[in-house]
Amino acid sequence: MFDRVIFYGLVGFGSLCFMIWLGVEGSQKNAGEVERADDLISTLSEIQQAIDLQRIIIHDEMINYQYPNGRYNISANKLEDLVIEENGNPIRSVVVSTWRSGSTFFGDIFTARPGLFYHFEPLYDFGIKKIRGPPLASQALENLKALLSCEYASLDHYLEHVKNESWIFRSNPPLWTQCQAHPSICYDHRFLSKMCKLFPFQFMKILRPTLQIAQELLADKKLGVRLVFLARDPRGVFQSRKHRSFCQKSLDCLDPNLLCADMVSDYNTAVELQKKYPSTFRVLRYEDLSLEPYKRVEELFEFYGLDFHPNVTKYLDTHTKNDVGNAYTTYRDSKTAPFHWRTELEFKEVEEIQRNCFVPMKYWGYVPAVNASHQREFNPITNMPHL
Ligand SMILES: *[C@@H]1O[C@H](CO)[C@@H](O)[C@H](O)[C@H]1NC(C)=O
Ligand SMILES: *[C@@H]1O[C@H](CO)[C@@H](O)[C@H](O)[C@H]1NC(C)=O
Ligand SMILES: *[C@@H]1O[C@H](CO)[C@@H](O)[C@H](O)[C@H]1NC(C)=O
Ligand SMILES: *[C@@H]1O[C@H](CO)[C@@H](O)[C@H](O)[C@H]1NC(C)=O
Repeated sequence: MFDRVIFYGLVGFGSLCFMIWLGVEGSQKNAGEVERADDLISTLSEIQQAIDLQRIIIHDEMINYQYPNGRYNISANKLEDLVIEENGNPIRSVVVSTWRSGSTFFGDIFTARPGLFYHFEPLYDFGIKKIRGPPLASQALENLKALLSCEYASLDHYLEHVKNESWIFRSNPPLWTQCQAHPSICYDHRFLSKMCKLFPFQFMKILRPTLQIAQELLADKKLGVRLVFLARDPRGVFQSRKHRSFCQKSLDCLDPNLLCADMVSDYNTAVELQKKYPSTFRVLRYEDLSLEPYKRVEELFEFYGLDFHPNVTKYLDTHTKNDVGNAYTTYRDSKTAPFHWRTELEFKEVEEIQRNCFVPMKYWGYVPAVNASHQREFNPITNMPHL
């Protein structure tokens, strides 16, 4: 351990000298810019300091980790194999979903895993828009791939937006810890790229693109992404969206016709992907996750090739059993959280959604309510016929 600290200290010091030299070289072109060179040197040295500390933290957190060494089809047998900084390939886990479908609950479970970097709202700057094809799809995919490769240099537009919304980086605990210690470099692409490249586990939650668009990530062999599509009962989705101000100005968020059409398209894509990528693609319904969180989460970790860390069990123990806090909180009684719509929607509203969503509800295994009293007590989920 101590050897490593010295080693990384020397590496860090060496790179700092090199960067100072680069900075000074750069600044000598223009004598008027000496002060800016000073700023540059202090920024780069602050970045290096944060990165060197994070590297040590991750090294310590990984001491008891059992490297896959062939398990889960992952050959990595030491930390360097999994970190981009050392030309390794991290374990990349992705969930694709839509607004208010349980993806925050899903994602937060994974942040309990030490050594994990969480790309929380990677397409935030696209606004409340569904991405179904050109022209947005190619830019979106380009950004997603850049983030999964920890290349932030081309993501200024994203960073400009994220800067105003601190909750986005707050969802990534190790990053947020560094941001609090070093606010001036938090949104600096040089810091973010280096920081991200230290982490052996990369997790990303994607809203906005349909599965048809997002599946591109599975085709990229180099990234080695494993992807889960998270579905939810449209009645639960609408009940939850009804009270969200971010939703109120967007048809993509409010119109049942659009959601239902996307659910049909996502279903057809999912059936296809299960054949095409049987070991790297999987479907899960939010309701199933909530009813059996321990079992489902264990299966998910296995699928993603992640070991089930004790901190994850602890997270489930404290986050799935009672209901406290506001609508965005992930502390809840997970067994009832997905079903609040049964008591909070009028039967009239339920009927309208069921009319619009008749086909996708059948595909995804959601049972229609027949009248108001039935709605309050029936079991709304059944098996999915083809998934
Ligand atoms: C994991 O749990 C331990 C013990 O409670 C705690 O000290 C540590 O900070 C946790 N690690 C992470 C990354 O949350
Ligand atoms: C961020 O907030 C500042 C100050 O409120 C505002 O001027 C700017 O336009 C915002 N940027 C974006 C991208 O929303
Ligand atoms: C491992 O990869 C091979 C080839 O891609 C695949 O056929 C197999 O199902 C995978 N096994 C697991 C456990 O992911
Ligand atoms: C509601 O539907 C259930 C199940 O079909 C039925 O048994 C019940 O009589 C209905 N109630 C009313 C008030 O129509």
